[in-house]
Amino acid sequence: MPRKVTPFSISPNPVSLYLTDALEAALFKIRYCVDYRQGLTAILGDVGVGKSSLVRYAHAELDAREDVTSILIPTPNFKTDYAFIQAISQAVGLPSRRSVQQHERELESWLGEQFLADRAVVLFVDEAQKLSTKMLELVRSFLNFETDETKLIQIILAGQLELRDRLQTKKMRALFSRLIAPTVLSPMSPAEVEKMIQHRCDYWKVPNPFPAEAMRRIYLLSSGIPRDVLRICGTAHQMLQLMGIKESPPEVIDQAFQELQLKDAQEITEEVAV
Ligand SMILES: Nc1ncnc2c1ncn2[C@@H]1O[C@H](COP(=O)(O)OP(=O)(O)O)[C@@H](O)[C@H]1O
Ligand SMILES: [Mg+2]
Repeated sequence: MPRKVTPFSISPNPVSLYLTDALEAALFKIRYCVDYRQGLTAILGDVGVGKSSLVRYAHAELDAREDVTSILIPTPNFKTDYAFIQAISQAVGLPSRRSVQQHERELESWLGEQFLADRAVVLFVDEAQKLSTKMLELVRSFLNFETDETKLIQIILAGQLELRDRLQTKKMRALFSRLIAPTVLSPMSPAEVEKMIQHRCDYWKVPNPFPAEAMRRIYLLSSGIPRDVLRICGTAHQMLQLMGIKESPPEVIDQAFQELQLKDAQEITEEVAV
């Protein structure tokens, strides 16, 4: 049986990304940061606005370039700063060392070689709000790897808004002051929601089941947060298939939304019970 596809999957798949103006601008900043060896930038925003998708998109684009080595850490669930730097070293093929300092020295000399070979090195850390203070300090020390004119490694931290709050604390000021043009992603406008849905349907070659009235409901109920848009669309799409209907009446969107809320409520109860 052929694998069933849904245009409304919520995994952060960069191939189905619809580039809004805000995402284009964010990509421009990332490319700028890399091409001009600016050091550190950040992508911030609430859950579900598209940070991980953007990170994966930019990582794939940069990694495909001959003159760039791009490293992506999707979730920095490391117990120690040692484990963090070890993972980075491993990603570029450096051997394991006993201490953070040894890793740092090795990484710095490797970065120096990349600089001489005219290769940019980029590190993306998604879910960066999970980085401990020590790990953020390590990030700062990477930014000290530099020549007279440029940084040897370009770092893009993506995370929830609490990351910005943390970077703004006194302790983190040194890191915050190095941040170049951070991007804060916001929810989408009604027109963007519509275009994103159309884009995903086109990509997966599925007729768009949501006419204007349904679109309006989707926007209202999701507040323009892409993740919620897709969850509502995904559930509504399933319901439509079960009912054998091709075009969604607005009521189906409401039903899908209710079903999702019930599911969320159940998940929360289950979490509490654990
Ligand atoms: N511009 C977009 N075009 C298409 N899908 C998007 C867009 N932005 C977000 N999504 C989708 O919304 C969902 C949540 O996005 P994600 O990148 O995981 O958000 P975040 O990392 O900010 O929580 C994913 O399924 C993602 O593919
Ligand atoms: Mg994410």
